[in-house]
Amino acid sequence: MKYSRIASYKTYEQMSERFKELELSIPFEKEVSSGSDSPLQQPIAWKNQQIGNRFCILPMEGWDGTPDGKPSDLTYRRWKSFGASGAKLIWGGEAVAVRHDGRANTNQVLIPDSKGSEIEELRRQEGQELERTQQRTSDLVIGLQLTHSGRYSRPDLEVGPAPLPIRRNGVLDRRLSINDDSRLLSDDDLKVLIDDFIQAAKLAEKVGFDFVDIKHCHGYLGHELLSGIDRAGEFGGSFENRTRFLREITHGIRSATRSLSIGVRLSIFDFLPFCMGEDGIGIPENNSNAEVCFGGDSTGTGVDLTEPLEFMNLLRSLNINLVCTTAGSPYYNPHIQRPAFFPPSDGYQPPEDPIVGVARQVMATKHLKEKNPDLVFVGSGYSYLQDWLPNVAQGVVRNHWVDSVGLGRMVLSYPNLPRDVLEGRSVHRKKVCRTFSDCTTAPRNGLVSGCFPLDDYYRKRPEREILKRL
Ligand SMILES: Cc1cc2nc3c(=O)[nH]c(=O)nc-3n(C[C@H](O)[C@H](O)[C@H](O)COP(=O)(O)O)c2cc1C
Ligand code: SF4
Repeated sequence: MKYSRIASYKTYEQMSERFKELELSIPFEKEVSSGSDSPLQQPIAWKNQQIGNRFCILPMEGWDGTPDGKPSDLTYRRWKSFGASGAKLIWGGEAVAVRHDGRANTNQVLIPDSKGSEIEELRRQEGQELERTQQRTSDLVIGLQLTHSGRYSRPDLEVGPAPLPIRRNGVLDRRLSINDDSRLLSDDDLKVLIDDFIQAAKLAEKVGFDFVDIKHCHGYLGHELLSGIDRAGEFGGSFENRTRFLREITHGIRSATRSLSIGVRLSIFDFLPFCMGEDGIGIPENNSNAEVCFGGDSTGTGVDLTEPLEFMNLLRSLNINLVCTTAGSPYYNPHIQRPAFFPPSDGYQPPEDPIVGVARQVMATKHLKEKNPDLVFVGSGYSYLQDWLPNVAQGVVRNHWVDSVGLGRMVLSYPNLPRDVLEGRSVHRKKVCRTFSDCTTAPRNGLVSGCFPLDDYYRKRPEREILKRL
């Protein structure tokens, strides 16, 4: 399949033409406005307060915490740049494990048993940066993403992968050398884990976060539970059972905290695991599990939002009105989750123009928003739009396809993008994320993550040379 890099569409007309060729009708505006009537400047009414504008910083891990789970100088630097970005919603900072065996890597930040002073400091410095850039903080909303990595747990360097899946999956089990049921989490294990989430949320409230995200995406535990149709017991089978984990955590948090809000980051659709075909291009790896992709159709490579819509009703019934949409998993189908022209070192060449991957997330989010106008939706996967990101962002917000535009990789290479757009400055081309995927390749090879090609600070680090060889 042949397609050009998005950077080759240099004019609005060329880019519009490409959207047409791909039969994608997503809102795409010629001029991005910075006046007070700009859609991206408008606040979002949320609870009894406002979220100051329509940019959100998505959770972005740096694989740079200390072995005992504390933030390092690199972690502080990243969170401060999130704070200075100008976005008024910060969705979680990064995935923080609720306990050691659920860490996805030895450097993942961990909710401590202690008083949480480091997490408090991260949050404080993030907010302070906004003040330093002379912006209001009263309409800043900051959450903390709580996670257990489940199947993708790898807490100890010496041990390597230590998966704790909730169901068997032919392809994924083989990739992780899971040969029997011995590592499956039991119902009793899950009940203990529910309490760990509740304790972590208590701490998050104590140190000043506005909300916690009960992570349900990217193949980690919360997300895998949603596809546990073939799991027996209280947490598998029916939709009600597969969502018990979220319901029980939510009830527990409500009774253990005073005013902490809850959000959910959800992979709203999923595909089969992909692998590299003979020509290097990604292909779905054969298996018979197509029917258990949450939000996927029976082909394993299509979207069916019937259950995600049911999930939105569940959120409403739990009084959860903050939703961040994403898709699939970076481990087994990265092209649907973080569309990129250049794959990470363990990836495959994209099987579609990455613009299609962006549009798939945009369209699916639009569908959910249309049916649930009362919920606040944050979208993801926009970074591949590169220089054209603000033009689509303004269009999707103006047309109520989404409430807030989430920035992932773009915020690593160009943390000030929201401020530049909102203050009417043109996009700084040299800082625009070109989806080189080094920020994914680095952690896959045990290195800290950051934007090695474009951020001077990382460019000078020794890991850059290792990455070049990779
Ligand atoms: C280096 C890196 C770290 C990430 N860390 C997290 C994380 O901690 N939690 C999470 O939910 N998603 C994480 N993601 C996914 C992003 O939040 C986002 O969904 C994805 O990059 C697609 O958005 P984008 O096109 O703006 O990059 C990470 C992605 C990358 C590339
Ligand atoms: S390394 Fe930098 S340019 Fe490459 S994908 Fe990550 S943020 Fe973008």
